[in-house]
Amino acid sequence: MTVVSIRALGSPAGQASEPGLVLGIESSCDETGVALVEAASGQIVAQALHSQVTRHAPYGGVVPELASRDHLRHGLPLVAEVLKDAGATSSDIGLVAYTQGPGLGGALLAGAQLATSLAAAWSLPVLPVHHMEAHLLSPLLADPAPQFPFLALLVSGGHTQLMHVAGIGRYALLGETIDDAAGEAFDKCAKLLGIAYPGGSQLALLAELGDAKSFRLPRPLAQSDGLDFSFAGLKTAVAHLVRELAGEPLPQRGATSSPQPILPIDHPRRADLAASVQAAIVDSLVSKSLAALDRSGLTALVVAGGVGANGNLRQKLAEACASRGVRVFHPPPSLCTDNGVMVAWAASLRAAEASRDYSVRVRPRWPLATLSPPRSPA
Ligand code: KG4
Ligand code: ZN
Repeated sequence: MTVVSIRALGSPAGQASEPGLVLGIESSCDETGVALVEAASGQIVAQALHSQVTRHAPYGGVVPELASRDHLRHGLPLVAEVLKDAGATSSDIGLVAYTQGPGLGGALLAGAQLATSLAAAWSLPVLPVHHMEAHLLSPLLADPAPQFPFLALLVSGGHTQLMHVAGIGRYALLGETIDDAAGEAFDKCAKLLGIAYPGGSQLALLAELGDAKSFRLPRPLAQSDGLDFSFAGLKTAVAHLVRELAGEPLPQRGATSSPQPILPIDHPRRADLAASVQAAIVDSLVSKSLAALDRSGLTALVVAGGVGANGNLRQKLAEACASRGVRVFHPPPSLCTDNGVMVAWAASLRAAEASRDYSVRVRPRWPLATLSPPRSPA
């Protein structure tokens, strides 16, 4: 793996022989993540995370305005915290990086503004980072790290994509969800099971107690030749089942809307339903990943994004790939969900692109496949 030394950018005054640190700031959704990573080695020097989960849980999903305000409140104190933990000052930092997109506009702005303000105040270069590229490159921090080329399964709350990755910035989209993302499907089904937002990981825990064969749930596009996914029908099927299990009447024909059903938390079939939901999502992810591996001839699979933390997905992929001679790579578990480390790390791999342009611009929609390979150091 080629790692561009931050010193190529010009070291901070008086620190010519010190290794450069990259400060990474993540604020694309509901986690404020800040980290200091050593550019040359990828070593994590310090990291801090503030999760907004409890703030959004009463609303059943992320409230964008609340997210922006929370990022504003926590960003700077988290920067102070990582500097303190690292025993570092701004003069140890060589580059400030932030998530420019994709994500929630206001949330991205809060992080972008903080990062560019700090970079300007400290007279440092700044670098915008693509959130999904940061997820995708985080398995390079694991030991062993994957070699290019590989297939990437990107599974988060907002994305479900299969990418052919020939190198950094050399991404070709092979398939993606045509409706809900896998994480979204976990979260929406969790809500129907009475689990507070963002229920993915809690649903996975409940699923361990249930029988995945209890309910046959839809696997849309399973029979299609394509590599796209679809999860919206799953939520509808689970909503119907929940009504049935809870003894609630089905909505009247022609009714414009009906309240979301919620399975009582003491219902005896709750764990079975959770296990069946998880199996339906995992089956779809595994079968399309295998099809993409067969079609591309790639022998390495990288799994990244929050849903990549799912133990059942990891196990099923490991089993299926082992028999095909395909190696599976994951980021360290703590780096599966959003964090500042992946932002700092992705920036260290693109350090030559940093600049002293302190204008603030975010990209709430930003397709990963439009990125280019990193510029080499001048
Ligand atoms: O990557 P991430 O932290 O944020 C986005 O970029 O969206 O992913 C968050 C998603 C949420 O939908 C969350 O429920 C899901 O990842 N998630 C899980 C697990 N841990 C997080 N889904 C299933 N099983 C898990 N263990
Ligand atoms: Zn993410």
